[in-house]
Amino acid sequence: MIKMNVLIFPCNIESASAFVEHAQSLGANVIYASSIETQEQRHQVHHLPYVNTPEFADAFLDLINTHEIAYVYAAHDVVLQYLHRLKNEPSFSKKFMICNDYQHKVYQAKYEEALQFGTDVIAEQGKKPGLLSVEKYAHLYMQFNAVPGQSDNAKLKSLIQLFIQVEQGDVVEIGSYWGRSAYALGFLANQHGIGTTISVDPWDVISNDSQGEGTEVVNEASRLIDWDLVFRGFIVNVSGLNNINYIRKPSDDAVYAYQQAGAQGSLTTLELGTTPLSGTIALLHIDGNHMYEQVKRDIDRWLPHVKPGGWVLVDDYDWSFGDGPKKAGDELLNHARVSEYFFASDTLFIRL
Ligand SMILES: C[S@@+](CC[C@H](N)C(=O)[O-])C[C@H]1O[C@@H](n2cnc3c(N)ncnc32)[C@H](O)[C@@H]1O
Repeated sequence: MIKMNVLIFPCNIESASAFVEHAQSLGANVIYASSIETQEQRHQVHHLPYVNTPEFADAFLDLINTHEIAYVYAAHDVVLQYLHRLKNEPSFSKKFMICNDYQHKVYQAKYEEALQFGTDVIAEQGKKPGLLSVEKYAHLYMQFNAVPGQSDNAKLKSLIQLFIQVEQGDVVEIGSYWGRSAYALGFLANQHGIGTTISVDPWDVISNDSQGEGTEVVNEASRLIDWDLVFRGFIVNVSGLNNINYIRKPSDDAVYAYQQAGAQGSLTTLELGTTPLSGTIALLHIDGNHMYEQVKRDIDRWLPHVKPGGWVLVDDYDWSFGDGPKKAGDELLNHARVSEYFFASDTLFIRL
C-alpha cells in the first residue's frame, strides 16, 4: 500500500492535533514543520522559514519534494492564505493539495450554527413569555455539544421548551454520564430560577454491567470505560454552573441521600461545594440503567418526591437496544397522579 504523506505546517498549533489523529488513523504518514524553534521530542520537526520571507518558497518546495508530500494541513490562516497563493503559481499548482479550510471560516460556521439553533427555538416558540435570548440558547447549544453524551439536539430543544413551564423545586437527573443533559438541566434551571440540579450516578462499572435482555453490546462497551475519569469529566463539565451538585450512588441508594439532604435543606460535596435543596422535585429526568426492573424502581422510589405539577421524563422510551424504559413508562401512564403526557425526541414527558 502506498503511504500518503501529509505535512502539518505549522505543527505547533493545538487545533492541528485532532487532524493528526484522524490522518494517522487513516494510515497517513504525518510530517511536521514549523518556523519557530520547538522543544517537541515526540517526533522530528522540520524547520521552514516564515512564509513572508523570500526563502520560504524554495525551502517549502524542497521539503515537499524530498518527502513526497501530497497534502498540506495549515491551521493558521496567514500561512494558509500564502499557500493558496503559492498554489496559483504554475510551478506549484500540481505539487500539493491543501486539505483544510480557513480557521476563521470553521469558527464562523460553528457560531452561525449555534445562533441558528437559538433563532429556531425562538421562532418555534412564537412570543411565549419566559423565553431566553437567541444568544443564551446559542451558548447552551455550544456547551451541550462540547460535552460527550447521549442526548441529541432534538432533546435539547424539548428541554428548552419544557423549562418555560417548569415550576420551582429541585431538578434531579438519574444517569448523567459526562454531564451533557445535566449541563442543559443545570443551565436552564439556573436561567429560569427553578432551583438546584442534582445528578445521581454511581459512575461505576457494576451498575452498567447489565441493562437487560439483548443489551450485551451496550454492556460490553461500558466495561471498557474508565468510570472514575468519566466522573471527573462530569465535574469538569458542570463546574461552570453553581446550582448543580451530585450524589455518586446507584439511584436505589441515592434516594435516601436525597431525602436526608432535602431535610437539611442543602447538599455538600467536595468538588461542587454546598447547594441549597428544596426537598421536592420539579423535574425528574430518568436516564440511568435501562433494564425494565431498574427503570420501574427509579419511578417507584423517586415519584413520591415529585411535586404535583412536576415533570417525570423517561429517556430512551424509544430505545434501539431494549424496551425497559418503554414498558416502565407505559405503566406509569396508568398512575392516578398523571395529568398529561407527550412523546418527543425519544423521551416520554409526563406531568403529574
Ligand atoms: C445513558 S447514560 C446517561 C446519559 C446522559 N444523560 C447524557 O445526556 O449524556 C446512563 C448513565 O446512567 C448511569 N447509571 C447506571 N446505573 C445507574 C443507577 N442504578 N443509578 C443511577 N445512574 C445509573 C451510568 O453510570 C451512566 O452514566
